[in-house]
Amino acid sequence: MRSRAGLTALMLAACAWAVAVAAAVQEPAHVHHAPAQARMLTSPLELTEADVSAGAEAFKSRCASCHGADGKGPLLWQNGRPKPSDLTESRMREHVDGEIYWVITNGITESGMPASASQFSERTRWQLVAYVRTLAGIKLALSTPGAGGSYVWDLPPGFPRPKVPADNPMSAEKVELGRHLFYDTRLSVDNTFSCASCHKQDRAFADEKARGVGVTGEVHPRGSMSLGNIAYSPVLTWANPTQRKLETQALVPMFGDEPVELGLSGKEKEMLSKLAADPRYLELFAKAFPGEAQPITLANVTKGIASFERVLLSGRSPYDRYRTGEDLIAISDSAKRGEALFFSEKTECFHCHGGFNFTETADYIGKGFLEIEFHNTGLYNVDGNGAYPAPNTGVMAVSEDEEDMGRFKAPSLRNIAETAPYMHDGSIATLEEVIAHYEAGGRTITGGPNAGDGSKSPLKSSFVKGFTLTPQERKDLVAFLKNLTDEEFLTDPRFGNPWKK
Ligand code: HEC
Ligand code: HEC
Ligand code: HEC
Repeated sequence: MRSRAGLTALMLAACAWAVAVAAAVQEPAHVHHAPAQARMLTSPLELTEADVSAGAEAFKSRCASCHGADGKGPLLWQNGRPKPSDLTESRMREHVDGEIYWVITNGITESGMPASASQFSERTRWQLVAYVRTLAGIKLALSTPGAGGSYVWDLPPGFPRPKVPADNPMSAEKVELGRHLFYDTRLSVDNTFSCASCHKQDRAFADEKARGVGVTGEVHPRGSMSLGNIAYSPVLTWANPTQRKLETQALVPMFGDEPVELGLSGKEKEMLSKLAADPRYLELFAKAFPGEAQPITLANVTKGIASFERVLLSGRSPYDRYRTGEDLIAISDSAKRGEALFFSEKTECFHCHGGFNFTETADYIGKGFLEIEFHNTGLYNVDGNGAYPAPNTGVMAVSEDEEDMGRFKAPSLRNIAETAPYMHDGSIATLEEVIAHYEAGGRTITGGPNAGDGSKSPLKSSFVKGFTLTPQERKDLVAFLKNLTDEEFLTDPRFGNPWKK
């Protein structure tokens, strides 16, 4: 059980982090008890009602004496130490699961809350986390026993279980079908293009272009995105809060006209009959959808592609080997200093790119509270009021709400060294320049139609406030980001082109 051993080691590493982080930044007392890295921890449980009950039992035995049977804290408290928290307060919702797990595991020494690492197994501590979440009024997404099906995920250490739509359960056969479709040029108008033309494995399933170029040469307003760990993304593409499901999203590149990507608009039947003429597909579809008389349908095409996308899991970078305690010298001292900077209140990177997938926008089985956020990073300010150049106005293009101008999804930073150029429109060439953009608290463009000072944008996030790094610190931060590359993922033959002879 690789993941289990990994998590235990991770807790040891987390203790070391606590020291490092406490030294680096003066945290206000009694607000954050856990270090920022604790946000990386996610529940390995496929959470059921029984887990919550087990958590309630454990709470009664070890926590109620201080926090009260109802979690509201003691009525009287006069021993001179901080009062045990009211765990039903709404501010408890602001903690993420990993922080609560960290506090339960390590205790809060200065407040007299004991550590539970030796009292409770890892499993029980996660059950406690689930119960504590319910105390704060959070409705947990529980699964019923066995609902996950028999599919065996190959999860990287410390990764939670992805959510899968009930109408498209995972199977190895669907994944295999999807892999064939993802790489199949018959999914384009002139048999030259496939999903993989813009989502290349050696580029972490993004590409090297600033903006996507479709089968007809039409240029997409935005750049291709990495599909690594897309199974955890509750919202798809750069800035569309309504695009939620991989099955539906796949229709956009196939049939979209604005812009043309694969150019299949009006060619659905033709495409399906091309597939049906290939004996290999007759077999692949029949195995993926047993019992269906006519399995070669558009709905099944998208189900297969989505199943393949869900197994594109990436979490075996040098940083992960270091983080899980598997290899404490997997990354350089420079990268370790970069890690501390990344998770510091000075740079604020972790606020938007935190968590096991280096993006706060992640969903999975057992997740307590899903918040989907889009941010304006001050990349543009063409009119002094924070405007971005059309048509890339961010979420505003969908919501038509002025407040949403320039708001984009914070992408995962895993494999980020492989996916240059950067940002939704590929307008930043290197990681060094990305860091310069954040250091300045927004980008200044001095000439041309997009000229403006992003740092003065009234719409930018308060987390993009600007800071100063020494030349060495800049190198450290880049070194850290480069250690998020998972070479195994970029070359794993299971994710490669099945049509290649
Ligand atoms: C000896 C008393 C004591 C026991 C036993 C105890 N706690 Fe605490 N706990 C505290 C105190 C005191 C604080 C507040 C610390 C502070 O604000 O400095 C606290 C804080 C917390 C917090 C952080 C809440 C916040 O304010 O952010 C959580 C979560 C928590 N406890 C959960 C638990 C759980 C779960 C257990 C059982 C495994 C437990 N505690 C057992 C005394 C205790
Ligand atoms: C012409 C290049 C191109 C082709 C072909 C293409 N994509 Fe994309 N893909 C993009 C671009 C550009 C985006 C960002 C779209 C946006 O923001 O509107 C994207 C975004 C995505 C996303 C969202 C990723 C995220 O992190 O939210 C998924 C999933 C995806 N594509 C899957 C596919 C699949 C499946 C196919 C084949 C059916 C495909 N793409 C074909 C260029 C392409
Ligand atoms: C307020 C939230 C926020 C903070 C803080 C933040 N980012 Fe970002 N980051 C984003 C968003 C949103 C994007 C996409 C912006 C766009 O395309 O307009 C992004 C894009 C990026 C990209 C390019 C990703 C890609 O696939 O093109 C990198 C690299 C990056 N950020 C690194 C960092 C680093 C390093 C820090 C800390 C110095 C940081 N970010 C701080 C939200 C944030």
